[in-house]
Amino acid sequence: MNDFIYSYPVKVYFGTDAAKKAISQELGKYGKHVMLAYGGGSVKKSGVYDTVRGMLEDAGKEIVDFSGIMPNPTYAKVQEGADLAREKQIDFILAVGGGSVIDCCKIISAQAKTEKDIWEMEFTDHEYPTEFIPMGAVVTASGTGAEMNNGAVITHEEKKIKTGVMGASAVFAALDPAYTMTLPIKQVISGAFDTLSHCMETYFGSPRTANVSDEINEAVMRNVIRNLWLLAENPEDTYARRELMWDSAMAENGILKIGKITDFQAHMIEHQLGAYTDCNHGCGLAVIHPVLYRHIYKEAVERFAHFAECVWSVSPVGKTRDEVALEGIRQLEDFIRAIGLPTNFRELGIQTDDKLLKAVAESSNIQAGCCKTLTPEEIFEILQECQ
Ligand code: NZQ
Ligand code: ZN
Repeated sequence: MNDFIYSYPVKVYFGTDAAKKAISQELGKYGKHVMLAYGGGSVKKSGVYDTVRGMLEDAGKEIVDFSGIMPNPTYAKVQEGADLAREKQIDFILAVGGGSVIDCCKIISAQAKTEKDIWEMEFTDHEYPTEFIPMGAVVTASGTGAEMNNGAVITHEEKKIKTGVMGASAVFAALDPAYTMTLPIKQVISGAFDTLSHCMETYFGSPRTANVSDEINEAVMRNVIRNLWLLAENPEDTYARRELMWDSAMAENGILKIGKITDFQAHMIEHQLGAYTDCNHGCGLAVIHPVLYRHIYKEAVERFAHFAECVWSVSPVGKTRDEVALEGIRQLEDFIRAIGLPTNFRELGIQTDDKLLKAVAESSNIQAGCCKTLTPEEIFEILQECQ
């Protein structure tokens, strides 16, 4: 295990009436003007908007709506939100939605507090924001764990880059599984696969020898898989949704990452695929993971074999370590298919050609934590195999 410092800024309210508890106990600390930020309207249809607005009114707040945050939020949307926050002198931002709404708000919170362009500041000057409009998150779609960290995944449309931008951490997160019940099952499953991906991307980072973070991680991965099976059988299974909501937070609250350099190579490729095609994040990962793993497993055979045994219950009897490792990857791929996620770009519903895939490969970040340092040519090969 590597050296680390651990502390966590996000206060979590989990379970029934989490939003009500969080808003009544936390919002009193902040000023009157609250930005209520949400997506394309699901919260209005589900009634969550009216409920949360009522809670803010009861807390004596003046509310400014910021709506229309799209899946895969854009930098232009961040700027629109930051302008509004400055104009209305917003004291607190309440993000109500999934990863996209929460991420957009993390950067609005930072951008509203500086004259500098956040993108230029972070990627050209390598300076990171230190002042934020405080924010909270009411989660309506779990999976990304976006409510648990200060990294936001933002798409810069002109630059054709989808990447992590550092912004605010939510001061609180309200995780009420009841708020996710209207989420279409396809999105529930893709979100939960995103959680599994976060676990795997951490597990396959270094070190890859036995350590407490990875052993907790194995338990979380098994839990995600078991509950995904339950949900595939019964989308209304509230017990499974509850478990998955906390799994999602566990994968991103830092616990599994303690002492690890994470991998996240699949994410880097998927993010760029998203920049070019606007594909669904969890579904893009489902296509990429098995193909990527078949390309790299030889560099970390023992770790992949251990993953196969501990997470997929692959028996090692009569098999070489190589065979055990490959069997684990095969089980992962079968699982992806069985729960209804795509296993190639055609099923993902995106149009790709060599020109697009080359652009994706050449713009994907290369991760030091991955067991194999990939070249753009190798990423291109992987992407071609995903078609
Ligand atoms: O926009 P609305 O109308 O609200 O509809 C949303 C959206 O269309 C809908 N939805 C959300 N809650 C709902 C609901 N529909 C019905 N009932 C509800 N209760 O679901 C759709 C998808 O929402 P979105 O927020 O885009 O999904 P998700 O939570 O998967 O977030 C994806 C974004 O998060 C980024 C992804 O790259 C992507 O941009 N990620 C953020 C991470 C982070 N900050 O730590 C880590 C992840 O790896 C990921 O990259
Ligand atoms: Zn993800």
